[in-house]
Amino acid sequence: MKALILVGGFGTRLRPLTLTLPKPLVEFGNRPMILHQVEALAAAGVTDIVLAVNYRPEVMINVLKKYEEQYGVKITFSVETEPLGTAGPLKLAEEILGKDDTPFFVLNSDVICEYPFKELAAFHRAHGQEGTIVVTKVDEPSKYGVVVHKPDHPSRIDRFVEKPVEFVGNRINAGIYILNPSVLSRIELRPTSIEQETFPAIVRDGQLHSFDLEGFWMDVGQPKDFLTGTCLYLSSLAKKNSKLLTPSSESFVHGGNVLIDPSAKIGKNCRIGPNVTIGPNVVIGDGVRLQRCVILESSRIKDHAWIKSTIVGWNSTVGKWARLENVTVLGDDVTVADEVYVNGGCVLPHKTIKANIDIPAIIM
Ligand code: GDD
Ligand code: MG
Repeated sequence: MKALILVGGFGTRLRPLTLTLPKPLVEFGNRPMILHQVEALAAAGVTDIVLAVNYRPEVMINVLKKYEEQYGVKITFSVETEPLGTAGPLKLAEEILGKDDTPFFVLNSDVICEYPFKELAAFHRAHGQEGTIVVTKVDEPSKYGVVVHKPDHPSRIDRFVEKPVEFVGNRINAGIYILNPSVLSRIELRPTSIEQETFPAIVRDGQLHSFDLEGFWMDVGQPKDFLTGTCLYLSSLAKKNSKLLTPSSESFVHGGNVLIDPSAKIGKNCRIGPNVTIGPNVVIGDGVRLQRCVILESSRIKDHAWIKSTIVGWNSTVGKWARLENVTVLGDDVTVADEVYVNGGCVLPHKTIKANIDIPAIIM
């Protein structure tokens, strides 16, 4: 089977992390975001994966080469000379997606869930029509594409409304589709939106169906949602009794849902959790309190620091008795001095913070 991942542009909403790494390579649950998707696609029998990007992909090409062998998939980069939106990239990759008449998967690169690719393909084949989109329920549908159904049919979509201004329903497009190659003939090679143009056209012909997602789902393309998505992902690992999680019998684990790379070092008398990920080669000092946070590779958290709802970027240092909270994000190689308080700071790479940040601010 075939798949295309819409990787897109600079991931500006996930700055400052995306100033250092392209969004798909930022670690979510201690692994590059895109690896979660590649692994699930490979497990469902996908052998051809197209990554649709619109900026220089060199860094990604190097990293993803490794995964080709590891997962037995062929990964092709499809590079746009101008951003082609969410539908144009499908047309650009027509040679691969349309090489036979089997359906292909399409994914937004920033969605995290337990990808139901096998079940989705079976459902799609059973109804036999042009497209199926995965839907999930959310409390705030206005940020997403909303799906409305025909009263007489459980899965046939009646209307697709992208970012509705008025409430039309709470079942939203989860950013995961399976489409027949015939859809490619509906798309022109120009910047065009699958949500605004292609889906409404397929809906008019009564050929678009929905598939209800089970379990958690999150678009993790911005820091606040990245943290929420991390909590949901860790909870789902806990539900499955995953061996990846640090056992609650460890004296420093508090409230469970803690994922620590084996190479990380944890000091004495720490209290860690719930909902914490700690990357490779991180060093945590003594008496550190961590909750609902992500500490990326090779960072150092000094004694008695207190960190909540924060992402600490790679190679950063948080000083003794420092306190970080309220969706603070440190970029690569940031230093927060001892005893400093940061409330919702977005700190760009290589900065040193010596004074308190009392109200949310971008530090450049
Ligand atoms: N290759 C390429 N070229 N990819 C693009 C481009 C482009 O020009 N523009 C956007 N993308 C990629 C993004 O990187 C992302 O992976 C995906 O397309 C969707 O774009 P977002 O910018 O993240 O859209 P959104 O989150 O506002 O809304 C989309 O996702 C929601 C679910 O998270 C829509 O599909 C909504 O309908 C959906 O509910
Ligand atoms: Mg998104």
